[in-house]
Amino acid sequence: MSGDVAVGARVALADRLASEGVLDAGWRSAFEAVPRHLFLPSVYWEFVDGVAVRRDQDADPEGWLAGAYRDTAAITQWDDGDEAGGQQDFTSSLSMPTMVARMLGDLDVEDGHRVREVGTGPGFNAALLAHRLGAVRVVSVEIDEAVVGLARGNLAAAGLGGVEVLVGDGADPAVGPGGRADRLIATCSSLVTDLPVTWVGQTVPGGVIVAPTATLFGGGATARLQVADDGRSAAGRFTGAADFMRMRQQRYQAPPVDAYLPGDWPGDAEASVTDLDPESIGGSWLAQFAIGAALPNVYYRRAPYGDMVTWWFFDTAVTSWATVDSVPDRSEFEVRQSGPRRLWDEIHTAWTTWEKAGRPGYERFGLTVTTTGTRTVWLDDPGHPWHLLAH
Ligand SMILES: C[S@@+](CC[C@H](N)C(=O)[O-])C[C@H]1O[C@@H](n2cnc3c(N)ncnc32)[C@H](O)[C@@H]1O
Repeated sequence: MSGDVAVGARVALADRLASEGVLDAGWRSAFEAVPRHLFLPSVYWEFVDGVAVRRDQDADPEGWLAGAYRDTAAITQWDDGDEAGGQQDFTSSLSMPTMVARMLGDLDVEDGHRVREVGTGPGFNAALLAHRLGAVRVVSVEIDEAVVGLARGNLAAAGLGGVEVLVGDGADPAVGPGGRADRLIATCSSLVTDLPVTWVGQTVPGGVIVAPTATLFGGGATARLQVADDGRSAAGRFTGAADFMRMRQQRYQAPPVDAYLPGDWPGDAEASVTDLDPESIGGSWLAQFAIGAALPNVYYRRAPYGDMVTWWFFDTAVTSWATVDSVPDRSEFEVRQSGPRRLWDEIHTAWTTWEKAGRPGYERFGLTVTTTGTRTVWLDDPGHPWHLLAH
């Protein structure tokens, strides 16, 4: 595929996103004009059926270029750039075009708006913003200095070097120009109960914040918040599922199981049975989001043994744990719970509340964030905090 063919590939990708209803008409010319392949390094990894496939420009220039115009994320950095890290975690990427288009649509920009982006990565999203609004109206903050260097080079190659790319933590109010932007978009996720409240102070009253959120339990969704007239809070609903890499300072290192259970399983745990198969939770990103938003300090691990899968649940305070054994074709599952919290009972209550509410989708959930540091997920309206309903 030559550079000229890439024009056709851009248009084809834009056509596809538009036909799927994710690309607003206002963003179409930016998607057609900005060459996505200019934001890819000579080697990147594309996820195909859950497997990271290496694309090397020297070895396979056509495959490398074709990958740039598929609707997939491209991994551009592993393990914070540590070459000896063994490619355990991907830590910078070019986001999936569908997500980029959806989030830009949610941002609802108008001519003349100034936008702050958190998480520059290779710079493609910043380039789209710059194409639409003008490079001088876009400031992007990226925590990884090496990634910043690449993004600046990519933006310059695309003729959009006027975008200001700053090195720093996008949650730090000292990073970047003072004053408030009209729009703030994050492309790295924060825990829903830990969304940086500094973003409220960095956005004008009436302005919009679009940010992917996650829960420690699992699941994630894009929040679209509008800043209140007094500039002290922002509130709004979630717009759909999102799965972004976590802000670096919010990555969670789980303690070893020994920290919870020093001896052999089941220790002093209380035994019971449940009718809820934890595998049905694992199969639903939305259910995980609902449970995680109700129980922000709980996480799980799956441990398969042959046909059986033992689900382990832990609290971050390292006081309590639970296990549930999922066995195919059973209607009852063995439970063990230990510690002051009955974690499985709490999860079961959150699940049941979600079910009885009609399995609400992301758009029925909302979030209110205040500059004093509160973050409240609610169901249907801000007067119904979800963590109280699902308790
Ligand atoms: C998914 S990538 C960004 C995608 C990108 N905006 C694009 O155009 O496709 C997420 C980026 O967020 C960065 N990041 C993580 N934590 C951050 C933080 N606290 N402040 C700023 N950037 C952060 C990562 O280093 C990574 O490059």
